[in-house]
Amino acid sequence: MKFFVDTADIGDIRELAESGLLDGVTTNPSLIHKSGRNFLEVVKEIADLVPGPVSAEVVATDHDEMMREAEILRKLADNIAVKVPLTLDGLKACRALTGDGTMVNVTLCFTANQALLAAKAGASFISPFVGRHDDIGFDGMEIISDIRIIYDNYDFATEILVASIRHPVHILQSAKIGADVITAPPAVIRQLFKHPLTDRGLEGFAADWAKTGQSIG
Ligand code: E4P
Repeated sequence: MKFFVDTADIGDIRELAESGLLDGVTTNPSLIHKSGRNFLEVVKEIADLVPGPVSAEVVATDHDEMMREAEILRKLADNIAVKVPLTLDGLKACRALTGDGTMVNVTLCFTANQALLAAKAGASFISPFVGRHDDIGFDGMEIISDIRIIYDNYDFATEILVASIRHPVHILQSAKIGADVITAPPAVIRQLFKHPLTDRGLEGFAADWAKTGQSIG
């Protein structure tokens, strides 16, 4: 399963990229706002830093304007995945862009049927938002299971990119279902490393090692 980080914060991206665990980055207009940076500049900087796909979202809602924005975004770097919304115009843009060899991430997916449409439109990635589903009292991960079954039934190449992840259990469940990619906030990725027994074990080993009076090498 690939790990993408969901942020436009260069410091976080740099730190995770150095760990060797980062396969890509996703951004959205809210994350760009949070970064306080110029959209095109920060996306270009991220794409230079991370070799994997970097999602940059169009903000237009009509097809022609989306295509105009996508043209600007895809010229930023070869690893840009243009993010389009799951609407009729968005999927029309998706078909045109992937037909041209551009990676497309279809975002704001909330049902398995929407994911089926995105796959038929040739999407490179489909982004179902699990956390926002949980927030309103539904089980977001159920949709991921349904999409996995549907995509396997028809051998769709579209990668399932689990988005709107809120905690490590979402990542565990994504891996068990066989999702292709997760995108999570930096804090949630950092949580994956942590366990109190790991910390306690390290402290114990360090204390006992000190008592031996030895050093390695
Ligand atoms: C995905 O690409 C989105 O940027 C993101 O995961 C949305 O998450 P949120 O529901 O935490 O805003």
